[in-house]
Amino acid sequence: MELKKYIDRSREIVEKRINEYLNKKPFVNETLKKSMLYSINAGGKRIRPAFMFLTYELLSSKDKKNIVDAAAAIEMIHTYSLIHDDLPAMDDDDLRRGKPTNHKIFGEGMAILAGDGLLTDAFNIISSSSAIKKNLKARAVEILSFRAGSSGMVSGQALDLLSEGKIYGAKEKSKIKKTLDYIHRHKTADMIMASCEIGCVLSEKEKYYKNLSEFALNIGLAFQVTDDILDVIGDKKKLGKSGSDQKNQKLTYVTLFGLEKAKKMADNFLTKALKNIESLEGDIEKKKLLKELALLVVRRDR
Ligand code: IPE
Ligand code: IPE
Ligand code: MG
Ligand code: MG
Ligand code: MG
Repeated sequence: MELKKYIDRSREIVEKRINEYLNKKPFVNETLKKSMLYSINAGGKRIRPAFMFLTYELLSSKDKKNIVDAAAAIEMIHTYSLIHDDLPAMDDDDLRRGKPTNHKIFGEGMAILAGDGLLTDAFNIISSSSAIKKNLKARAVEILSFRAGSSGMVSGQALDLLSEGKIYGAKEKSKIKKTLDYIHRHKTADMIMASCEIGCVLSEKEKYYKNLSEFALNIGLAFQVTDDILDVIGDKKKLGKSGSDQKNQKLTYVTLFGLEKAKKMADNFLTKALKNIESLEGDIEKKKLLKELALLVVRRDR
């Protein structure tokens, strides 16, 4: 199977599940629902569900449909993080996934609430899942809450904000590099780690948990370095966002090391990631697709 087909199928079942879940949910305010579904249906790449599904199918040879609630939860948290990331108080962006940002359409208050709704509902969709066993749901929620919360993505976003507009001298470079690695590790890699870790736990084959966790860390770092590069050289139309790092004086791999070195660093993370899964045994076709997906993370143009 081609990777594109695999991602398309992953996208299809995740989007269907989130829409069905929100449309069936009782007591949801209509405007809030519209705002949540606006960002969900704006069409992201759905890379995180694809990583979760491939990890699961690689190890278990069961169908990804069994864990769609967990994949939906990851994408809901990711989408919430983007809605909040775009707010004027954060990156102040007008364009996301090729459409006006959530707050541009629904206002800042409703955008904050849409994020709150998606974050909280992510834990509801997974904990109320009838397809995933009780003990496995509990483990998935534990991983997801740890990686998304204050030990994870939220602290990455916090340091990202705190590092804006800082001027640093050449002598400070190694200290700043540590700060930047913390930001990337947490704001971006943690959610990709959660995707692979949950895929592994749900497959009930935890033998490779550490390999997959390290794989996802390196993929996450490669992903964010590439995001920083695309912010400078990417085609804004393809990206569906306008590129605000310079305006916000963000600390990025490009500002710290320049474009060429940043590209090399992304490739180095990819090489490390591929080594992390070298010894992994499972479905051969899925392993091939997982490697191709890893490659896409640094070779993408959107
Ligand atoms: C953007 O993530 C935010 C980062 C963590 C860099 P994606 O590039 O995966 O965004 P979508 O989901 O495809 O819109
Ligand atoms: C955002 O990083 C990471 C999260 C939303 C957690 P960026 O601010 O670089 O993402 P983009 O470039 O706006 O997508
Ligand atoms: Mg940001
Ligand atoms: Mg941003
Ligand atoms: Mg960015």
